[in-house]
Amino acid sequence: MLLRVLGTAAGGGLPQWNCACPGCTGARRHPSRRRLHDGLAFHGADPDAWFLANATPDVAEQLEGQPALRPGAGKERTPVIRVVLTDAELDHTLGLLRLREAARIEVWCTRPVHEALTVRLPLTDILSPYTTLTWHDLPLTGAGRPATVAGLEVSALPLSDKRPRYAAGEPSHPAWSTALKVHDPGTGTRALYAPALAAWSDPLDDEIAGADCVLLDGTFLDEDEPRRTGVSRRTASGMGHLPVEGSGGTAERLHRTGAQVFYTHLNNTNPLADPGDPAHERLAGLGLRAAEENMVVQL
Ligand code: MLT
Ligand code: MN
Ligand code: ZN
Repeated sequence: MLLRVLGTAAGGGLPQWNCACPGCTGARRHPSRRRLHDGLAFHGADPDAWFLANATPDVAEQLEGQPALRPGAGKERTPVIRVVLTDAELDHTLGLLRLREAARIEVWCTRPVHEALTVRLPLTDILSPYTTLTWHDLPLTGAGRPATVAGLEVSALPLSDKRPRYAAGEPSHPAWSTALKVHDPGTGTRALYAPALAAWSDPLDDEIAGADCVLLDGTFLDEDEPRRTGVSRRTASGMGHLPVEGSGGTAERLHRTGAQVFYTHLNNTNPLADPGDPAHERLAGLGLRAAEENMVVQL
């Protein structure tokens, strides 16, 4: 399988339109530091059959920026677009509205995410005059057969009951926020994508041990970053994002894994937004890296 990194930033992107923090200012001064919202495209043996992992507010620019994902020569349009969702967060779902030019949109998601996106954010009602939107159940990892999407097997590993703010009134469910597990039955390779990791768990540990590539929540570098930078009065983990560094951070758990590990969903306050920051060297010492825009990983 091949995965394309279409963006690597947390909600707001880098720079964020209303922000003048050092990260955003740096990205305005150095356009190479700009990052779109985190999202991926996957394909298996057939490069023309692909799906998106999350549909970000930047999705149209992200597709246009990838020659391989543009409509093929002689074809006027991309008639069907497939999207698998990790959660119902606005930064991962607003792109569905921008995909309305497709004749068909096929979406795979967990039950609570479907509830949020049809009741709280009534996407079916809004999109049905424009396109045919079809919802598919995204099976939980280990519970029955995974979904086959574009020739790849996909399931959702439950991570937490962190609901989007617009759906805060919805009932608790373990699969509000998930990691996507993507398995290529042709090559036997596996990728794991978790842009919002609120807590470590044994099942996650097991999935990481069996994965060839992991793209993980790198929102905040350390636990105090949201408070220190004025983003929130809460800590990183209090906001549903385990920090990268420090005790309880993900780096210390990941550095012994055999998988290629890339941090993504970087907030604009994250020092990793600056390619010269010494945190990059510290991570490299552990065999870990920040994901780069437009990076391609062949597995
Ligand atoms: C998150 O990743 O925690 C959310 O996207 C935050 C938000 O609501 O913007
Ligand atoms: Mn987010
Ligand atoms: Zn900023």
